[in-house]
Amino acid sequence: MKFHVLTLFPEMVENAVHTSITGRALKNGTLSLHTVNIRDFSDNKHMRVDDYPYGGGAGMVMQPEPVFQAWKSVACPDHAGRGKKPRCIYLTPQGIVLNQTMVEEFAMEEELILLCGHYEGIDERVLEEVVTDYVSIGDYVLTGGELAACVFIDAVSRFVPGVLSNEESSQFESMQDHLLEYPHYTRPEAWHDRKVPEVLLQGDHRKIQAWRQEQSVERTRQRRPDLLEKNRQATAAFFSPTGGTRRAVEIFTEFLTQNPRYLDLGRRKLRKEKWKFSSGDFLVAAAPVYGGQLPDIQEPLFSNLHGEKTPCVIMAAYGNRHYDDTLAQMQYRLEEQGFICIGAIAPVIPHIYSDILGKGRPDEKDIRIIRKFAVEIKKRLETGEQYGFTSVKVPGNPLPAPKQMKPVEKSFDRARCTKCQVCVQRCPVNAISQETLQIREDRCLNCMSCVKVCKAGARGYDCSQVADYLEKNYSVPKEIQFF
Ligand SMILES: Cc1cc2nc3c(=O)[nH]c(=O)nc-3n(C[C@H](O)[C@H](O)[C@H](O)COP(=O)(O)O)c2cc1C
Ligand code: SF4
Ligand code: SF4
Repeated sequence: MKFHVLTLFPEMVENAVHTSITGRALKNGTLSLHTVNIRDFSDNKHMRVDDYPYGGGAGMVMQPEPVFQAWKSVACPDHAGRGKKPRCIYLTPQGIVLNQTMVEEFAMEEELILLCGHYEGIDERVLEEVVTDYVSIGDYVLTGGELAACVFIDAVSRFVPGVLSNEESSQFESMQDHLLEYPHYTRPEAWHDRKVPEVLLQGDHRKIQAWRQEQSVERTRQRRPDLLEKNRQATAAFFSPTGGTRRAVEIFTEFLTQNPRYLDLGRRKLRKEKWKFSSGDFLVAAAPVYGGQLPDIQEPLFSNLHGEKTPCVIMAAYGNRHYDDTLAQMQYRLEEQGFICIGAIAPVIPHIYSDILGKGRPDEKDIRIIRKFAVEIKKRLETGEQYGFTSVKVPGNPLPAPKQMKPVEKSFDRARCTKCQVCVQRCPVNAISQETLQIREDRCLNCMSCVKVCKAGARGYDCSQVADYLEKNYSVPKEIQFF
């Protein structure tokens, strides 16, 4: 990631950023810092860049032209062969106060320009022309923007892959999920008559996790109760007979929160239970696309989830053909049951009927898009908490006519079968007889979970005709769409 800093005091920024962790990242090339002295663009022999304010008053104002030329030297569209101007952030107490979601969003840019003001500020006209984001680091005034730029660079850099030696550390620290971090201890075990909490010495990882979570909540309650109000329990309710949707929903949910709860709706028992969500919760609902719609099961998918104006995100994972009406159908169903769909995404996953369609998806590029979507959702949650949640618009028919799909030809080699019953238990719709192990075609979804879970290789299927058709028509990889 590259930071360009437009400043009258480059050494101030250079010294700070070349120190400690950001310094190491500059050395190993993960970060790059380019300071530009605005004074170099002065058009007078005294190298002045400020002048008296029109209308009178105290202090001096930075003139527009030197700032503009400094900006142009890095932001010109043809600069370094770029087509797009990088975002230009003006650090000012008049900006939006920086928070962790904004930091994470800025970290997804390849380049950023930071503009540091001095004196009474910068001529408004050049700000209007070059600035894309006004950012404050808190409700107080500094003598110039340089220290604010350093704070900004430090916070953003922590989200740039490779800057922190252990990538996880950027995820487990204060401010994720609007919770403060739990207390830390190191040797010695006793110090000034204070002992390290017993649970940390026993080596029971689950107990340690539970203790840390409890401490996090308690500490936030005491020190930052305002944050605790924003903390939501996120539940990802998914249907995924062969695991593709599950992988996509896990990637998304883990970008969103450290503490997700997963609800596998492929398990018949969990579908029979009623799950209630309050307005302070958050739901992610995910399903694969079957014939352009939600899988058609007896008790409709998600009908056991009930919200109370609960914000939710819907995910329709598909095998590179299309998701057609699935998102619209999901939105309609969930909003009827008290949820507000604030976002929707259609990731591509491997198609169970083809070895080519969706192979290796979500790949690295997809993961970047999913992350971008997760940051967007964090922003929508923050805005929604202030102004109320709004429902997203998605394409498709919310009430499509049920589609009849031709069953896939399946084989069963009794000689190989060990009668382990795994396929019976894992069939999401109870379509396999416990006694005979035969498939009841009237119930079967053709999801192929039974084939995938059979370790003995007793089950198989032949979908070569469908695969030929799909591969002929839908082999070009589709890009993930989100709304
Ligand atoms: C019966 C059936 C119908 C499907 N229809 C579509 C479809 O219309 N469009 C599409 O892109 N993928 C389709 N797929 C592929 C799935 O969306 C998905 O890629 C695959 O089933 C894996 O989901 P899972 O691993 O989460 O179970 C279909 C799969 C099945 C089993
Ligand atoms: S019997 Fe049908 S529905 Fe059940 S796991 Fe097998 S393919 Fe899926
Ligand atoms: S999973 Fe395979 S081995 Fe086990 S009962 Fe089913 S068909 Fe037989």
